[in-house]
Amino acid sequence: MCGIVGYIGFRNASDFLLDGLHRLEYRGYDSAGIAVFHKGEVAVRKRAGRVCELDRLIETDGVEGTVGIGHTRWATHGETTDVNSHPHVGGNGEVVLVHNGVVENHNSLRTQLQTLGYVFRTTTDTEVIAHLIAHHLEKRIETDGEICTHEACVEVVETAMRKIEGTYGVAVLFRDCPDLIVAARAGSPLVVGIGRGEYFVASDAGPLVGYTEEVVYLADHEIVALTSESIDLLHRDAGKKSPSIQVLDQVAGDTSLGDFEHYMLKEIYEQPQSIENAMRGRFDESEATAMFGGLNLDPQQLRRVDRVVLTACGTSWHAGLVGEYLLEEFARLPTEVEYASELRYRNPPLTDNTMVFAITQSGETADTLAAMRECKRKGHPTLAICNVVGSSIAREADGGIYLHAGPEIGVASTKAFTSQVTVLTLLALYLGRMRHLSYPAGRRMIDQLREMPDKLRKALTCHDAVREVAAKYHGFNNFLYLGRLYNFPVALEGALKMKEISYIHAEGYPAAEMKHGPIALVEEKTPSIFVIPRGGIYPKVMSNLEEVRARCGPVIAIACEGDDTVADLADDVIFVPDVEEYLQPLVTSIPLQLLAYHVALLRDCNVDRPRNLAKSVTVE
Ligand code: AGP
Ligand code: GLU
Repeated sequence: MCGIVGYIGFRNASDFLLDGLHRLEYRGYDSAGIAVFHKGEVAVRKRAGRVCELDRLIETDGVEGTVGIGHTRWATHGETTDVNSHPHVGGNGEVVLVHNGVVENHNSLRTQLQTLGYVFRTTTDTEVIAHLIAHHLEKRIETDGEICTHEACVEVVETAMRKIEGTYGVAVLFRDCPDLIVAARAGSPLVVGIGRGEYFVASDAGPLVGYTEEVVYLADHEIVALTSESIDLLHRDAGKKSPSIQVLDQVAGDTSLGDFEHYMLKEIYEQPQSIENAMRGRFDESEATAMFGGLNLDPQQLRRVDRVVLTACGTSWHAGLVGEYLLEEFARLPTEVEYASELRYRNPPLTDNTMVFAITQSGETADTLAAMRECKRKGHPTLAICNVVGSSIAREADGGIYLHAGPEIGVASTKAFTSQVTVLTLLALYLGRMRHLSYPAGRRMIDQLREMPDKLRKALTCHDAVREVAAKYHGFNNFLYLGRLYNFPVALEGALKMKEISYIHAEGYPAAEMKHGPIALVEEKTPSIFVIPRGGIYPKVMSNLEEVRARCGPVIAIACEGDDTVADLADDVIFVPDVEEYLQPLVTSIPLQLLAYHVALLRDCNVDRPRNLAKSVTVE
């Protein structure tokens, strides 16, 4: 799920490549590298670690040239070492390439290539592509007696890529064609930026912002040949095509840290504003409903919907779970939340009028994209709830709703979650008002939603209390997160935050389900975090809390302000504002985000770039 960049034109290629790699680092930060045509050869510079390590290398050992490719890696095959970093070299240096994806048949291809005499220097799956292309090039030159031409290069990439099982986005340089980049994709995104006398390649449009406004998104099995003056596009099966040029509607979002120490903290604090942005212009007061510009379905079609499937991964899946509760309660629509990685290979019966929503911050998550495509293939309207404008999922969906949350850079998702929940609440209102929800009930929801940015501002005042709790508990190695109904997904999300940034084992569970197993974990060294704001089943959750106390488990409660009963029972309490039950996830998730943040800081973890993770998971 790495990031790829490429440049051919008149600028110093390294400048664009490094700038682009920084912008793509959210896709992986195990290693980074570039290859640039420099004094008649392809010079490769690469390093394990973050892109800033590569910056340092280039400062002392720079490469000048106007054609090059670059990569930031999230390792799938082979350790995160300098030698396994991309770019990789094929043959005797005739081919140099970067790859995003997974070669599933790398073992058998490696054996075949080794038999032919190719020597492998790395333990990556990618190196087989480099040698395979080099092998086909060599064969072609041998049989046709040709020198290395542009046509030959494109052809050998096409031939080699037919042999690859799995996914790829590749950008390839040929030592003997210094004025050419060949790029190809199947399953991993690639976009070409069109300039005047220059072309750019990138895994997504982010690196192109500020360089060009015209882009061509490659489709699967398309191959593009770029010189500084030309773009030639062909489809593996359909042959030559004319590129469809689109205007890049992305603007550079605010990616500065401002006064904050980390992006995660900044993004936590942005939530009052980001949920306001998610609601802006989406209320129809006179009809007491919500409105959306981009669903691309007429009211009759929407009225006929009898089932909703929400598909997503990770935090977005947790938001989907809140969505299920909302859509069933307010729109009375049977709703299922499916892990995208499961849905893509399952075959659940879906009714003719099932509507599918892919929920995704990045719009690039490979599993979510594949699940959406599978549903689309079966003829269901597929819509996206997405943050990144112009992302693969946003472009492929039949319609959708943008979050307008601004760039989320911290790997641990925070503001995207609350924005997704906000949009799903609006959706429940909208679909509800087409069905059973009355006018006064719709008005009430609008009024309550409008108050939420202020409620979130108030929720953020728990920061000092959270800091104290973190100081007390950061040495513990197991946490239980417990909640019921709307706060069950919050418990799951709180546990995920803790796991991913502080590497502490944490389990989210429905508070009452805990007694069917996880209660065995309760002891003095296993704190339970109860999400227990007031509501219909408050006394029931209270009993669950007592069950933990009876077994000497420390209890940290997230409760409504002024709830002295909980405060008396719990070892520690963090207060949040009192809001309607269906809106509670928006406030109760805030102390849990802050808790994970402070525990991670106290344990000296990299909050914004946790180990082994990437912001956008573009491999299966
Ligand atoms: C959240 O903190 C995670 N890093 C991760 O679970 C994320 O939510 C998941 O990978 C889905 O990403 P998406 O929303 O961009 O599709
Ligand atoms: N499979 C390749 C590797 O492990 C590419 C991974 C990626 O997409 O970052 O190097």
